[in-house]
Amino acid sequence: MIRSVVRGVGGRLPTRVVDNDELALRLDTSDPWIRERTGIRQRHIAAEGELTSDLGAAAARLALERADLPPSRVDLVVVATSTPDNTFPATATAIQRKLALPPGPALDVQAVCAGFAYALTVADNFLRLGQATHALVIGAETFSRILDWTDRGTCVLFGDGAGAVLLRAERQAGTSADRGILATRLAADGRHYEQLYVDGGPSQGGPVGHLRMNGREVFRHAVHDLADVAAAVVADAGLSLAELDLLVPHQANLRIIEAVGRRLDLPPEKVVVTVDRHANTSAASIPLALDHAVAEGRLRPGHLVCATAMGGGFAWGAVLLRW
Ligand code: UT7
Repeated sequence: MIRSVVRGVGGRLPTRVVDNDELALRLDTSDPWIRERTGIRQRHIAAEGELTSDLGAAAARLALERADLPPSRVDLVVVATSTPDNTFPATATAIQRKLALPPGPALDVQAVCAGFAYALTVADNFLRLGQATHALVIGAETFSRILDWTDRGTCVLFGDGAGAVLLRAERQAGTSADRGILATRLAADGRHYEQLYVDGGPSQGGPVGHLRMNGREVFRHAVHDLADVAAAVVADAGLSLAELDLLVPHQANLRIIEAVGRRLDLPPEKVVVTVDRHANTSAASIPLALDHAVAEGRLRPGHLVCATAMGGGFAWGAVLLRW
């Protein structure tokens, strides 16, 4: 059977780092509060004129280089983002142009913080159906543009960045020992629409708007959604949680990540944490964390890895893959 195998991964963070102390200069907040409640120490913020597509293209370029694949071979681009360059066309087409990729399907997927799980699943389905061979899957965000910088309850939590993977369709035996994506699970429940949303948008006729969140309610759902969907996707592949080499959870809050690890009975060394340095980069958090895990030597060929994500909608999902 055909499997979607990760052949390269790349990440890009804006140069400018804003630490908690810098935020405390302009807001009624403090480094100890932010660190204790979230684990966040700093975040990267895009420069003026630095677009989501710039970050996404840079991450994708690295993924292509590491996959040793010329851009001309890419035949699918899927971008997970909630902060597109323009309302339309898709940021995927901006990245296609910036990387001089050949014509082919290019689309954005909008599932907020669950976006990368959704995008991987969409690309995996294209590849397994034989509709594409080399897919660039990118999570790219500039959340700093949609934050209310006077709302200390939200603006301290997010950062900008992008990550990308190059997936290649490869024929495999069809067992759980295969490399590549072994199982995917997606879900959403629109009853929670108002818990985490942006208060503007094209069909409302007003400006883009700002992020609004009921943090406690999101927190409560995040822990069990992230853990339960990860457990489900591992079971779907006929494997057990004990066999996981690495869990790559969406990076929103260290307390959420630790609670998910405990719920899944995983030791801390099997759970990737980047939220301290990156803050919450929404759809970019998982590919950035994958890039980080590879750079640290924690993610090697043959490892069983589960990426799990949850965010606005609520939308959530998990992807199980053998690296
Ligand atoms: O990607 C998915 C999206 N997001 C998430 O997963 C985030 C989920 N939620 C969270 O991470 C947490 O709920 C937060 C970090 C957002 C908030 O932590 P919390 O422990 O739920 O705090 P809280 O909202 O209940 O606020 C506690 C207190 C409040 O003061 P009072 O009412 O007790 O006097 C807040 O006004 O902390 C205050 N507070 C702050 N104080 C200093 C809220 N934000 C700040 C701040 N600095 N930045």
